[in-house]
Amino acid sequence: MTNGYAFEGPTLLLGAPLREGIVAAGACVCVPLAMMNRHGLIAGATGTGKTKTLQLLAGQLSESGVPVFLADLKGDLSGLAAPGVANAKIEERSKAIGVPFKPASYPVEFLSLTGENGVQLRATVSSFGPLLLSRALGLNETQRSVLSLVFKFCDDKGLLLLDLPDLKAALQHLTGDGAAALAEYGGMSKATVGVLLRKMVELEQQGAGQFFGEPEFEVEDLLRTDPAGKGIVSALELSGVQDRPALFSTFLMWLLASIYRELPEVGDLDKPKLVFFFDEAHLLFEGASKPFLEQVEQVVRLVRSKGVGVFFVTQTPKDVPADVLAQLGHRVQHALRAFTPDDEKALRATVNTFPRSEFYDIAKTLTSLGIGEALVTVLTPRGVPSPVVATLLAPPSSLMAPIPAADLASRIARSPLSAAYATAVDRESARETLAARTGDPGGSDATSTAPDRGAAPRRSRKAAPAEPTVADQVGKALNSPLARTVAGSLVRGLFGVLGVPTTARRRRRRLY
Ligand SMILES: Nc1ncnc2c1ncn2[C@@H]1O[C@H](COP(=O)(O)OP(=O)(O)O)[C@@H](O)[C@H]1O
Ligand SMILES: [Mg+2]
Repeated sequence: MTNGYAFEGPTLLLGAPLREGIVAAGACVCVPLAMMNRHGLIAGATGTGKTKTLQLLAGQLSESGVPVFLADLKGDLSGLAAPGVANAKIEERSKAIGVPFKPASYPVEFLSLTGENGVQLRATVSSFGPLLLSRALGLNETQRSVLSLVFKFCDDKGLLLLDLPDLKAALQHLTGDGAAALAEYGGMSKATVGVLLRKMVELEQQGAGQFFGEPEFEVEDLLRTDPAGKGIVSALELSGVQDRPALFSTFLMWLLASIYRELPEVGDLDKPKLVFFFDEAHLLFEGASKPFLEQVEQVVRLVRSKGVGVFFVTQTPKDVPADVLAQLGHRVQHALRAFTPDDEKALRATVNTFPRSEFYDIAKTLTSLGIGEALVTVLTPRGVPSPVVATLLAPPSSLMAPIPAADLASRIARSPLSAAYATAVDRESARETLAARTGDPGGSDATSTAPDRGAAPRRSRKAAPAEPTVADQVGKALNSPLARTVAGSLVRGLFGVLGVPTTARRRRRRLY
């Protein structure tokens, strides 16, 4: 029953087969490393072991030289940085599986949206684009289309949108001195622009202001290995932003879309270039607009050919839109409960997403699995699903708890990323430009120093998207299928750097 898991080439260990309480020690259930870009789902009720499965896979990927990006919602994945500590339970589990427990630690970079417990990550408003920003702001359809027009207006006028004060200044301009432009861009009502302004202020009050701006995080920093050849694990600390799910989930989408945009197409590789884990992925999809879901679906589909794998970790497959779910080749389904009619429904839906099995009653198995056990099926190198097998999952080799706070702080301080990203840069952008044009010193922020009026024409000239190199890149980018939906934000992303060639901007430094 397990020879369906005897793959050629390197694999990642999940555990050993389990049937009627008996573990087939030594008969490994595993995933082919080369297939890790075929995406996966780790599902199950709370407390059944999903995050530990993530930790198990992330550690082995790092060991194999594959960089990993993960969202750490509870702060406990920092344990990847320290070796695991054996105890009776772990020893027993390892013995049952037939693979000795070997403590190991991995190189981890700690990133954060708030600057706490990690290196501050930033993205510019322009590269975020109106679609993602609408999701972060919780906008309805009408408001979203108005926000798109505001972005267009700023593009046309050479107003650079880097941080929230820039966007705020643009919105204030449109409700004040620049109101004439509202008519020019049919569909922008002053009232709706006013609503956007209020929503923005709310977002700022929640502390989101810090992660809009520069220096913008560069995707290549996620693709590193350490001097020993282990893949760097980039852990985004999210425990402080749990009450703002739309905000951090859109940030993760921004990151994934940037990865898509910046990485070259690659053929079939021996191993992926990066594997991305979305823990608590239901937060990404809840209440999301249709265009947003379409963008997620497209990015997930297309990153595969860039050698990037995406794993969603969530309670039931129902949390993931069908179009996305259909692309997840690997399934690690932990226990589900069947207490309420809703549970029953979720269970039936889950059963239907599984291949048939001659060995297991899927529904019965799913409700009787213990903690750290799961029904597994993976995509084989031939591209077909492996036989469904109940699996006793191996313990992660790294620490199943957070590392001490002092250890975390010193690791962050030592990180080469701290030097690159810790300090915000506020260069001249929409806020300053508008202030200079209207003679209002400082725009929305009275403490800033406004450039003299003569600066405005220079900005406009720099803003003109005339340089053939940039235009060529846009032309090339627009030919990609993804571009059809994100064309707006893509163009802004490239033109948004205003005269700073993307290549010059990128090749900044070597960290290792
Ligand atoms: N593979 C495993 N090996 C050892 N213990 C595990 C394993 N998976 C889960 N556990 C135990 O179950 C607990 C809950 O697991 P966790 O991954 O946090 O659940 P979830 O993410 O599904 O809420 C862990 O703290 C650990 O004690
Ligand atoms: Mg969890």
